[in-house]
Amino acid sequence: MKYYNNYELTYRKLYAEKKQDQKHDLKQDQQNSYEFIEKIFSMPMFRHLNNIHNNDNIPYDVLIIGIGIGDLGFWMAAKGFNVWGIDVSATAIDIANQRSLAYDYDFRQRLSFLNMDVTSFSIDSNRKCNRKFDLIIDNHCLHCLVDDEDRRSYYQQVRNHLKEEAALVIETMVYEDNFIVNKSTKSTKSTKSTNSAESADENYILDDNRTLWQKTNIKEYSNIVKHNGHDYIPVRKILDVYQIEQEFLKCNYKIKYFVFRSDLRIKLDEYQADNLTCNNLPPVLRAVLY
Ligand SMILES: C[S@@+](CC[C@H](N)C(=O)[O-])C[C@H]1O[C@@H](n2cnc3c(N)ncnc32)[C@H](O)[C@@H]1O
Repeated sequence: MKYYNNYELTYRKLYAEKKQDQKHDLKQDQQNSYEFIEKIFSMPMFRHLNNIHNNDNIPYDVLIIGIGIGDLGFWMAAKGFNVWGIDVSATAIDIANQRSLAYDYDFRQRLSFLNMDVTSFSIDSNRKCNRKFDLIIDNHCLHCLVDDEDRRSYYQQVRNHLKEEAALVIETMVYEDNFIVNKSTKSTKSTKSTNSAESADENYILDDNRTLWQKTNIKEYSNIVKHNGHDYIPVRKILDVYQIEQEFLKCNYKIKYFVFRSDLRIKLDEYQADNLTCNNLPPVLRAVLY
């Protein structure tokens, strides 16, 4: 089992505890986590998307990577776009599909949730889409890919699915010097001692390559590493701003927009916050690539 399947277990738990709301609250999301997506529609390169429909009067095609249980998909479909959302977790996609049943037929016709791995996917839909998209949005997926080869495949796959004038919009975690990894009561005051992995009760370790490792009891993962007698799997790649910029360029993307502010952070809902043992989340950068 690959390291990035760890989300499957989180979604199974969510499903078992029935914590996911049925109908998605569009209003609430408009006010918070999608402010960046909202903002891109005012950029000159995306102005045409404000019309929702192309010259043939067909809605533009949007692909969302790492869609989870569907929230951003519902939000984009409510705007009128044709939306495809992919996620490597089968349970997340099941939940997303179940949630879509709360919407009417026309709305559902604009939505496809597919269980696919972004590092090797191919969209072969019965809906009218030539497998290329007018807009691709990474919904916090890239930082889940820690392996260099997986990240290279990601950039290539996204490129293969972008129409000529289209762009990738991305929000991804960024390393900052005072990032404290563990919620543990031990030595959270000093970044150095927390990150240096000296105590045995660490749930997370950040190594020198900026890979974040999480303690696990599951033996089936292929990337398990032992530390202080415990098993760890890699769960995040948290590069610094300069490293991410270099990676974008090296993978043949041009940068249209690139903003990093240390106060920009992913907002967790109550359930996510309760289930996260990481002390705080690092900030994110927002970019538009083409
Ligand atoms: C940090 S979560 C974000 C979930 C949701 N988009 C949100 O913002 O709440 C990352 C998502 O990416 C998915 N993911 C991780 N690796 C993936 C891969 N290789 N291919 C597709 N999805 C992946 C996870 O299953 C998870 O749903």
